[in-house]
Amino acid sequence: MISAIPPVASLAQKEIALPPPLHSPAFYAGDPFPAYRELRATDPVTWNEEHGFWALLKYEDIRYVSTNPALFSSARGITVPDPAIENPVMEGSLIFTDPPRHRRLRKLINSGFTRRQVAILEPKLRAFARTALDAIDPAGGTEFAERIAAPLPTRMIAELLGAPDEDWEQFRRWSDAAVGMDDPDVELDTFTAMGELYQYFEKLIALRRNGALRDSDDLLSVLVAAEVDGVRLSDQDLLQFCLLLLVAGNETTRNLIALGTLALIEHPQQFRLLREHPELIPTAVEEFLRYTSPVANMTRCATRDVEMRGRLIREGQYVTMLYGSANRDEDIFGPTSEQLDVTRNPNPHLAFGCGEHSCLGAQLARLEARVLFEELLARFEHIEPAGEVLRMQATMVPGVRAMPVRLRAATDPRRAKARAG
Ligand code: HEM
Repeated sequence: MISAIPPVASLAQKEIALPPPLHSPAFYAGDPFPAYRELRATDPVTWNEEHGFWALLKYEDIRYVSTNPALFSSARGITVPDPAIENPVMEGSLIFTDPPRHRRLRKLINSGFTRRQVAILEPKLRAFARTALDAIDPAGGTEFAERIAAPLPTRMIAELLGAPDEDWEQFRRWSDAAVGMDDPDVELDTFTAMGELYQYFEKLIALRRNGALRDSDDLLSVLVAAEVDGVRLSDQDLLQFCLLLLVAGNETTRNLIALGTLALIEHPQQFRLLREHPELIPTAVEEFLRYTSPVANMTRCATRDVEMRGRLIREGQYVTMLYGSANRDEDIFGPTSEQLDVTRNPNPHLAFGCGEHSCLGAQLARLEARVLFEELLARFEHIEPAGEVLRMQATMVPGVRAMPVRLRAATDPRRAKARAG
């Protein structure tokens, strides 16, 4: 049994207060941060009675769980558990595997998912961002989530995989359906979407296996040929990886771009600072990741009894890591942990997780956000809400579905430069 972290003193007291509904999609789609703050102070390893799982609020505890895959497995599901259904698992897919299989798979996939593969996307990404932003009529405003935040990540994944341009919109429908299973408004059901995706990716893989696209250097072509220690990726591995990229890379990055923009709208001084000092944009992207935590949580299952802060986590119980809380932990980020500060540095946030499963797409997500904010801030000197922000009803990635905004075009010379460049 593990007991590295001291117990909290006031257990009896806090059990009287009404516990926040950590099992509820609406909780994550709303403003969970005040409840996180309260729980960090009173009940940082908290039991959710309704769905029967533990939730972790403190940074160090989440690091501990993420870096001990032998004690906390990903193979029995990674979503907030729901007693009405078995925790979904796509057996064998990277994110649902533990070492040693996880290490083998990750090594193979890393060989294709390199910095270079990501960097070669930048010119295309910038062109997409410019086209999307230039299409905005500042006077009329725009639906920011749908028109700006959503298409970029989808297009980048399509580019990575070497999928033809005309499939982009279909990509997006599948991805929404695959991630938004808690959302009654999503029409296409998850299983239909997964089936259609499988068939589509089978075609892309077959084209590369049979040599029809011999000279292409997209990620999928690299992975088809990848070999580490005499081991290669099977068709099944590749299919699952394509699906994982789509699910893991779309809604998450869309959320970062939309919620980052919303954070700037709500903090006009920070908006101005960033416009005056665009060199701060990479630092600001880290702060958007910390402050908004686009992925609310990931879950693990204890493989044996573990004690944390005086609470006994039993073998077989689920433990949910609340990244949004870790990212505002006063012990790590100090007295300004609840504030947006685009100059914050260092910023050791856990928005991409850490340890074994830390986000494979982190560099791509950072690049997408950096380029988008560079182009956005060069063009517009003011952004304001023009209607209600609507969130997906989901526990893990409560994405932004609608975010109408009005923008004012910049009058300074950088705007002209951005358009010309
Ligand atoms: C802002 C954007 C993103 C955020 C906040 C994010 C967050 C995360 C987190 C927290 C994990 C850890 C999962 C765990 O510990 O169980 C993860 C894993 C992963 N992410 Fe991301 N992600 C983002 C974008 C992307 C993109 C753009 C891609 C690829 C196109 C991607 C692909 C993956 C994959 C494949 C994994 C699984 C890695 C493994 O199991 O070894 N993510 N991501």
